[in-house]
Amino acid sequence: MSDLSLTDKVAVVTGAGRGLGRAYAVALAAAGAAVVVNDIDAEAAGDTTQAIVGAGGRAVAHVAAIGDTASAESLVHAAVEKFGRLDVMVTNAGIVRDKVLWKMSDEDFDVVVHTHLRGTFTCARAAAIQMREQGEGGSIIVVGSPAGQFGNFGQTNYAAAKAGIVAFARTWALELARSGITVNALVPTAWTQMTATIPVYAPLVERVDAGEPLPSAVRREHAIGMPEECAPLVVFLASDAARDVTGQAIGIGGDKLTLYSHAGEEAVEYRDGGWTASEIADAWAADLSSHRQSSGVELPPLELEPHPTR
Ligand SMILES: NC(=O)c1ccc[n+]([C@@H]2O[C@H](COP(=O)([O-])OP(=O)(O)OC[C@H]3O[C@@H](n4cnc5c(N)ncnc54)[C@H](O)[C@@H]3O)[C@@H](O)[C@H]2O)c1
Repeated sequence: MSDLSLTDKVAVVTGAGRGLGRAYAVALAAAGAAVVVNDIDAEAAGDTTQAIVGAGGRAVAHVAAIGDTASAESLVHAAVEKFGRLDVMVTNAGIVRDKVLWKMSDEDFDVVVHTHLRGTFTCARAAAIQMREQGEGGSIIVVGSPAGQFGNFGQTNYAAAKAGIVAFARTWALELARSGITVNALVPTAWTQMTATIPVYAPLVERVDAGEPLPSAVRREHAIGMPEECAPLVVFLASDAARDVTGQAIGIGGDKLTLYSHAGEEAVEYRDGGWTASEIADAWAADLSSHRQSSGVELPPLELEPHPTR
């Protein structure tokens, strides 16, 4: 058995009915894992499960809304009841409710934070309890976003939840190291219905729908490919080949694989006895301002080749 084989492992993927989660579940099963396919949408969970079973894999559907402790516990229970154990937890389920800060309602904020941040916490906690009990390690793969790494216009709720999820990974990697449980944040980018609504990609929608490949600049510099192309990173992180990989935030999309840095100190100054406001103003003008950091995801402008058929 190669280090990348997942034979004998049992995985859970939340939000696996469509999009990236479906791609992760299918790839984990193809690598040999038995998969619990969670989704809030019963039909979508059933479709993914059938696709896996139809291809000769092992899968069971689990229909529940991720967020609360009860659904996280029932998810882990389903893995243990159907397949006897749990080795891999992928917390992928998510939604967006984009609004600028001054238009964002409490409900828009709460539902996104509940699904992403609380849902990741409750599922990872239930998984950690089960994996520690088994005593053979495991892999927890949480899901961030470029919006969480850099901030993004209109995504107060989502960017905060995704940044928090990366902080979870860095924290849980410490707490679970002794149990041999790795925790990493996956930062995917893919062509989905959501990406297709971003104005810069509008000219591509027709081409992609017609089955044309994405242009090289989109695949490389914007790191956008198809959802299935993010799945090999999940397989790697779930496998024994990644036993020593923990506490990392790793991006994948199209042709690009990215290791993200921790937030670090960009420029440092010391002053014996501490700082007054006026001394801070001087230090800002003299030095720190030249190191100022940008906000938001920065992508190179997209110069698309004219459509060959036009
Ligand atoms: N698409 C991208 O480029 C991109 C970029 C960065 C991060 N992500 C993240 O990847 C994950 C998947 O994104 P996607 O583009 O595949 O989205 P998607 O909308 O295509 O799929 C999400 C799935 O999650 C399910 N879901 C939603 N809320 C749920 C809940 N409470 N409980 C269970 N299932 C629930 C949906 O029914 C759906 O099947 C999300 O966490 C998203 O934030 C996506």
